[in-house]
Amino acid sequence: MITCSAPGKVYLFGEHAVVYGQSAICCAIDLRTRVQAEEHDSIVIESVLGTTGLDQEVHPYVSRVIEKMKAFGNIRGVRIHIDSELPVGSGLGSSAAVTVASIQALNQLYSCGLQLEEVASMGHIIEREVQGNASPTDTYVSTMGGVVMIPERRRLNGLECSIIVGNTGKFSSTRELVANVAKLRQEFPDIIDPILNNIGRMSHLAEEHVNRYDYETMGKLMNVNQGLLDAIGVGGAELSELVYAARDAGAISAKITGAGGGGCMVALASKQDAGKIASAIRNKGAEAILTSNTQEGVRLEP
Ligand code: MEV
Repeated sequence: MITCSAPGKVYLFGEHAVVYGQSAICCAIDLRTRVQAEEHDSIVIESVLGTTGLDQEVHPYVSRVIEKMKAFGNIRGVRIHIDSELPVGSGLGSSAAVTVASIQALNQLYSCGLQLEEVASMGHIIEREVQGNASPTDTYVSTMGGVVMIPERRRLNGLECSIIVGNTGKFSSTRELVANVAKLRQEFPDIIDPILNNIGRMSHLAEEHVNRYDYETMGKLMNVNQGLLDAIGVGGAELSELVYAARDAGAISAKITGAGGGGCMVALASKQDAGKIASAIRNKGAEAILTSNTQEGVRLEP
């Protein structure tokens, strides 16, 4: 039996804009999805998932992984067991982590010889098949770990502050939100395109500040990014309430992470302020998760 795990992620910059080729900065977080794979007489997919329990959400990803991996290994029957610390449909990259960890588990179990870049690109193809217009961000970060700039695939210095995730608990459909932005863009191209371009420019400006560990300046830009996400209609009352609660409690920055419309927000804070910010989020009735950046992407578990 083989066990592989892969991390979730938060966007520091650039969700939605990255779908249109703009740059994003994404950060792997220390919450992982574990996938066990063993040979079996039929195909079985079992899952114990985060807090939302939307088991059926992960099946389209895993069954596609099995189908595609048949081209690389002699896979007849296999039992896949998924166990995740990442809530599903909340913008923390749970589907990418399930996909990448499943590819790597089968890659190891059947000695298929896929390199990490190949794992990431197969993951991206599968995300696109299931979700529609998906960028390579989630699968790349989950495979490689660290803080990365996409589409450049440039690794930035690790984030040394605390990361607090606030989860509204409201399921958010990436497919739907990406489609809504596409519609808005079609209706008002002269307004929406400059917003998406500016989000991409912010990622480039922020790169230097991440690398210099200058979180105050980077945080100001993250807050501007939040305003632009609101402008393209992916905010929402619940997320905004958590964003402002975190900022009022002393967060360096706070914004939506991922598709928006529900799901999660992310706040950055110094290690000593992190608990205060988590409490402010909990006081609004949401789940708060304290985490940090991990440098490790997909890995074999003992
Ligand atoms: C979803 O986590 C992030 C989006 O930018 C979609 C994508 O990049 O595929 C909204």
